Amino acid sequence: MDMIRDYLCEKDRVWADGVAARIKAKLDWVSVKSKDKIPYTADENGTHDDKTNVDPSWWTNGFWGGMLWLMYRETGDPKYAEIARHSEEVLDLSMEQYYDLHHDVGFMWLPTAVADYRLTGNEDGRRRGLHAANLLAGRFNPAGRFIRAWNNEAWKPGSGNRGWAIIDCLMNIPLLYWASDELDDPRFRQIAMLHADTVMENFIRPDGSSNHIVEFDANTGEMVTSYGGQGYEVGSSWTRGQGWALYGFALSYLHTGRQEYLDTAKRVAHYFIANIPEDGMIPVDFRQPAQPAYKDSTAAAIAACGLIEIARQVGEFEKGLYLNAAVRLLKALDEKCCHYGEECDYLVGGGSGCYHEERHEYPIIYGDYFFMEAMFKLAGSDFLIW
Ligand code: GLY
Repeated sequence: MDMIRDYLCEKDRVWADGVAARIKAKLDWVSVKSKDKIPYTADENGTHDDKTNVDPSWWTNGFWGGMLWLMYRETGDPKYAEIARHSEEVLDLSMEQYYDLHHDVGFMWLPTAVADYRLTGNEDGRRRGLHAANLLAGRFNPAGRFIRAWNNEAWKPGSGNRGWAIIDCLMNIPLLYWASDELDDPRFRQIAMLHADTVMENFIRPDGSSNHIVEFDANTGEMVTSYGGQGYEVGSSWTRGQGWALYGFALSYLHTGRQEYLDTAKRVAHYFIANIPEDGMIPVDFRQPAQPAYKDSTAAAIAACGLIEIARQVGEFEKGLYLNAAVRLLKALDEKCCHYGEECDYLVGGGSGCYHEERHEYPIIYGDYFFMEAMFKLAGSDFLIW
């Protein structure tokens, strides 16, 4: 893997090392404080909430474990493995309950069980990961060549969403690439690539922006319509979705070598870069109205991770474009959203789940996770959870 750190200027290397060191110091403290939790956000005092008993199948329940495995990989300290395995055990309950699981099993099991297996050889992690990959593969709709996103309520028949696919799923399909490699069985990879092809064709617009939700006829596979989803409205440009598209296609390229995936990742990246505001802070939707205007730090962190992966894949002359944009986004987060001290449990504030919700600009665990992943990469890490 390309040592992306070598392409940073000296000043940025010093900055990246400093931020990575501050993240490690914070995690050394907060990992122990929150060791029995699976945080999603924090309360008004900055204390982590806990999804352990409230919602074991919540889609973000892999990110805290992922942060701990990144720390384990960086430090070799067994305390991180021990704490991370709490998430894996809670996810077992979710696997057993089954009904609340949907396409986000990649987000849940790649940063936990699969990371555990890859880093420590834990066979339980392999079994859990393969189980999750089979669930994901089972959601494939062969007529439309897409992976179904969400469920009907408790799998009751008749819901309108049986033909829905969403851009976020590009981050789940690396679980299928991993399972194919692990089992030497091409079926999982075939499903992942068919899904990625469908997304390339039906989600990505000519200007490089992406739809969030596309509905297909579940019987014929015909595209029916698109929805604004977590963005402002139909046809708008939900920034976290642009981040999932940018990073997701870069990952599909990494796992398959298929040039169209890299070209698509670059097209989305060019659109994203062209829309970064002057202050480097990313809105919830690139097409949201002037008021109310909300920001989303998580979109910036995700896009930065994807931009770094694109930079690894392109030639010398192109690297700067993607790497400089990533550094710009991460510096804005470092300066305006990050908390490295013990005043709160979270690292990155300023996240937004979607445009149309009451709460905006609050800490969300995947903001912490992707900021950490990006900064560790800039500081020299070559470990990729996805
Ligand atoms: N995958 C759901 C979200 O990005 O909010």
